[in-house]
Amino acid sequence: MKLHWITLVGAAGFLLITAATVPSPTPYNWKLPKGFPQPHVPADNPMTVEKVELGRHLFYDTRLSGNGMMACSTCHRQNRAFGDDTPTTPGTFGDRGFRKSMAIVNVVYTGTLTWSNPEKRLENQALVPLFGTHPVEMGLDKDNSFLEDLSADPVYKKLFRAAFPSEKKPVTVANVTKALASFQRSLISGNSPYDRYRFQGDENAISDVAKHGEKLFFSSMFGCGRCHGGFNFSDSTITAKNPERAVFHNTGLYNVKGPTHYPAPNVGLYEHTKSKYDIGLFKAPTLRNIALHPPYMHDGSVPTLDAVLDHYAAGGRTIKSGPHAGVGKDNPNKDHLLTGFELTKEDRAALLAFLHSLTDREFMTNPKFSDPWPE
Ligand code: HEC
Ligand code: HEC
Repeated sequence: MKLHWITLVGAAGFLLITAATVPSPTPYNWKLPKGFPQPHVPADNPMTVEKVELGRHLFYDTRLSGNGMMACSTCHRQNRAFGDDTPTTPGTFGDRGFRKSMAIVNVVYTGTLTWSNPEKRLENQALVPLFGTHPVEMGLDKDNSFLEDLSADPVYKKLFRAAFPSEKKPVTVANVTKALASFQRSLISGNSPYDRYRFQGDENAISDVAKHGEKLFFSSMFGCGRCHGGFNFSDSTITAKNPERAVFHNTGLYNVKGPTHYPAPNVGLYEHTKSKYDIGLFKAPTLRNIALHPPYMHDGSVPTLDAVLDHYAAGGRTIKSGPHAGVGKDNPNKDHLLTGFELTKEDRAALLAFLHSLTDREFMTNPKFSDPWPE
């Protein structure tokens, strides 16, 4: 009887000790910038410090590609606000990409992911670059052999155990995507000169020209704020209070001959819904850090912010010759309020100064977001 009792105490002690070696994960403290609402996080993947740290290691790891050459960070570079500065980036085996890499900025607040997909969950979206074949981006084998490489690394052994302490075999694809999602949700940018001026009470953080640009941007004549409004400069914004939002627009970027008016395969939301009213409809992305990642638009076909303003001033882009020739202004699906405006030299300078004031230098250099692997 006594022996039995001792065994029980021993077992309980052993359990306590095991629990102590793998402590429960630490809830993530957002430290949100002023003016930022509480973000929406899916209930099945709560934010923890340990998951974010694991996700950071995975985001910068080329073992997540079929030939060990490409990481998420290859196309999503911190010094480009986690976007890129080329129209498209080839996949790890050289396959041509169709669209421009997007800047991962405040993505926790984004209602739908990528340029024109109704997908809402970062956990699902990551599977596209990892395993997608149209085009092949990171080109991982379907047999998930990369998980063996990760399991064999003592760094990951520790990180996966800390992030998923209740699981016996935590190195799974599902946990890889959960951790990647957690790291990406931590990528908050809210300390640009504009933020210091608008939300932190520093009157002198931006120039008078930029302040004038802010007025023009939100005016009904220029109308930018209608689609790029709110604290995140995108109408596709979700928060803890309003966790659903999916809106897309056609800005008259193309009007080529043929039934889709937009050059295939970049036909917008139509690719997913097959409704003709969705042809050429794209998400209005956040304009935070926009100066850091030219060229612009879903296919990187607009080289500079100056040229972006020309496109909107004309109420749609005209391409005079070549396979994409056409008058974007006349695109049948174009947002009917985008009618164009006259743009003086002064107004152009003001709008550009405002857009540049949205660049957050801290975001580009924050060591918490940088490559954790030794060189
Ligand atoms: C070869 C380049 C490339 C690689 C590698 C890559 N991406 Fe992307 N990423 C893109 C492109 C291109 C888009 C836009 C895709 C589209 O619209 O169809 C994108 C879009 C995204 C978006 C949408 C952002 C938004 O604001 O909607 C997220 C999130 C994302 N990628 C995460 C990742 C993650 C996580 C990885 C690694 C597992 C990764 N990407 C690897 C090129 C890449
Ligand atoms: C009707 C909604 C709408 C209005 C109004 C609007 N935009 Fe946009 N904006 C979009 C959409 C949608 C895209 C993406 C289009 C694409 O890729 O084809 C976009 C893209 C952009 C981009 C490129 C983003 C990137 O990451 O490449 C910039 C810069 C931009 N808009 C600035 C402006 C400015 C400045 C104004 C006002 C003059 C404005 N927008 C007005 C919807 C709008």
